Parts: sequence; C-alpha cells; structure tokens
Amino acid sequence: MHRYNIFIALILGTCTFIAVAQNPVPRCFDFTWLGPRFTNESVFMNATCQDATRMANGIPCREPLVVSYDGSWPDVHYIWKNYGQHASCVLANNDVCAQFTYYFNGHVENSTYMCTRAVDNMGQAVTSGCYTQVNGSFTTRTCLLLTRGNAILTYTLSVLACLTFLCFLSTLTVDYRTAAQMNTVKVVVKNVPDYGASRERNDLGFLTFDLKTDLSHLFNWNVKQLFLYLTAEYTTTNNELNQVVLWDKIILRGENAVLDFKNMNTKYYFWDDGNGLKGHNNVTLTLSWNIIPNAGLLPNIQAIGQHSFKFPTDYTQTKV
Ligand SMILES: *[C@@H]1O[C@H](CO)[C@@H](O)[C@H](O)[C@H]1NC(C)=O
Ligand SMILES: *[C@@H]1O[C@H](CO)[C@@H](O)[C@H](O)[C@H]1NC(C)=O
Ligand SMILES: *[C@@H]1O[C@H](CO)[C@@H](O)[C@H](O)[C@H]1NC(C)=O
Ligand SMILES: *[C@@H]1O[C@H](CO)[C@@H](O)[C@H](O)[C@H]1NC(C)=O
Repeated sequence: MHRYNIFIALILGTCTFIAVAQNPVPRCFDFTWLGPRFTNESVFMNATCQDATRMANGIPCREPLVVSYDGSWPDVHYIWKNYGQHASCVLANNDVCAQFTYYFNGHVENSTYMCTRAVDNMGQAVTSGCYTQVNGSFTTRTCLLLTRGNAILTYTLSVLACLTFLCFLSTLTVDYRTAAQMNTVKVVVKNVPDYGASRERNDLGFLTFDLKTDLSHLFNWNVKQLFLYLTAEYTTTNNELNQVVLWDKIILRGENAVLDFKNMNTKYYFWDDGNGLKGHNNVTLTLSWNIIPNAGLLPNIQAIGQHSFKFPTDYTQTKV
C-alpha cells in the first residue's frame, strides 16, 4: 500500500511538471514605448514614468520605458527574447493583457502595454476587443489582447490528460506473458465416421490434460476479463498448420485466476479432416488469452510454456 502511494505521488508530480512546462504562467508585456519623437539621440536616460507623464494623473505608463533607435515601433519579439521577465507581468485570473495607444492627428504618440482588469460601463469584465475614444485631435485606442480567466481550467485539463495518458502507458509496459505448465494425461485416437463432413472415416482424438498457471497479476485496472483458450497445433500432409481449439474459459475480474486443473476433459472435439492424428508424434498444446480491457488495446498473448505429445500408432476400439 505504501509503495502504491509513492507511485501515485510520482505520477501526479510528473503530470504537474508536464502541465507547468506546457502551460507556463501566462504573462503580458508590461512597458511603455515613448513614441516616435524619441530616438537613440534623445536625452531620456534614467527617465521614469513621472518624467514621461509630467505627473499627470490617469495616464497609463509602465516602466521600463522603451525607445527605439529610429523612433519606429519597438520590436516586441526582440523585447520578449531579451527582456522578457523585466518587461512583462504575470497575468492573474480574470485580468487581460491591455495596450493603450495615444494618437494625435492620426499619428501615434506612444503606447503602453500592461496587465489590467478591464470593466465596461456596466461593470462587466471586458475580455477582448479594441475601444477608441476621440477628443479633438487626440485619439486613444485601447486594445485588450486576450483573457486568461480560464488558465486554471486549461491547467487542470492538461494534468488530467497527462494522468490518463500515463495510466494508459502503465498498462502498455505490463508484461502480460506468463508461464503455464501443461501436460497430457490420457491420449487416444479413434477412427469414426464424421457424418457432419462426409461419409469417410476421420480421426478423432481424445485427451485429458493438466493445466497449472497463475494469471492473477494480469488483472490491472484496465483488465475487465480474460478469455483463455487451449489450442492443439500440428502439421499434416493435408495442411501445413492445423489449429484446433480444445478448451476455453472466461475469467472475470475478481474471480480466482490461479488455475490448477487435473485430468481435465477437452470441451470441443478434436477432429482431423483426414487420418492425420494416428501416430502423429508432434502435436503442440498452447495456452493463449485475449485480454478484454476497459479501454484501449486488446492484446492476444501466448503463455510461456507449451507441451508436445504423440498420438498412439493404433486406433482405440474401446469407448472413451
Ligand atoms: C543612433 O543610431 C543611428 C543608427 O540608427 C546611428 O547612426 C547613431 O550614431 C546613433 N546615435 C547614438 C548617439 O548612438
Ligand atoms: C542614471 O542614474 C545613475 C544613478 O542612478 C547615474 O549614475 C547616471 O549618470 C544617470 N545617467 C544619466 C544619463 O542621467
Ligand atoms: C502619451 O501621449 C499622450 C498624448 O500626447 C500624453 O498625454 C501622455 O503623457 C503620453 N504618455 C507617456 C507615457 O508618455
Ligand atoms: C478632452 O481634452 C481636453 C484637453 O485636451 C480635456 O480638458 C477634456 O477633459 C478631454 N475630454 C475627455 C472626455 O477626455
């Protein structure tokens, strides 16, 4: 039980890590571009927002203040790459990334990027879109770039998706092969008319078998039931490979999967379509199973361990 807990903690940890890596904390740009009137020639070093806005109230301004060499729009990719942490803010839930831009006579004056909580005049949270205000020659344009109110949901979904995937992976790595010991106890062959097929006399084998195997470890969370079947395989001059199912069994989840059968009769007739059984010296018994999963793959697996046996060289006359 203790080991189980550690395992779950490990999986959760891995998934959280993957989710965080996939969904880094959302950030917005957080700086003010002072506009085209400022270039590398301007005296702006050490300027602050107080200098830039001349102490006017309510004018958006965020440090750092950015100036481009020739007064053109700053290259935001360059800023993100080189000053990403310094020129950005962490976006809280229900906040938006906003951009306020001032225009004078249609020409851009400056622009401020920031994280903010935007509310319309009805008091409702505004999530995206651009809003323009005109006052004489001045125009302000506010663009709300994206909402991340559902960041937590996205994050939770990623963790869940990852958990599902890891659980599925965990069943892929399970080794569904298992040793099985088989043995034949009594083996006889008769020559009888197979009325179903023709008037000719065909070989009919009879055998009883022992079977011992433990399949309980196959039942992980994704195994609903096992379908076991025992086949006999042999080659004849008629057919390159004859495969006859002699016995099968369904084991449901929760049922005993430790099998120890002694001297079992086959469930199905062992017909050959000719006289291929008498004296055959190499018939192989194989135990296989289909795993019926709750979800996903349906593997067909053979047990490790087979048993080869011979049929007697004479037909038996007695009743069996
Ligand atoms: C400003 O940048 C221009 C090139 O864009 C360059 O020619 C000039 O020397 C720079 N001036 C200063 C003061 O760095
Ligand atoms: C900027 O400020 C630092 C100290 O805060 C000062 O040493 C430096 O000379 C200032 N640069 C300009 C261009 O004013
Ligand atoms: C942006 O331009 C407007 C209009 O010219 C001005 O009032 C405001 O102070 C400027 N903002 C900054 C941060 O320079
Ligand atoms: C329009 O601009 C003038 C000064 O430029 C200012 O006094 C006035 O309050 C502004 N109006 C609005 C609605 O912002």
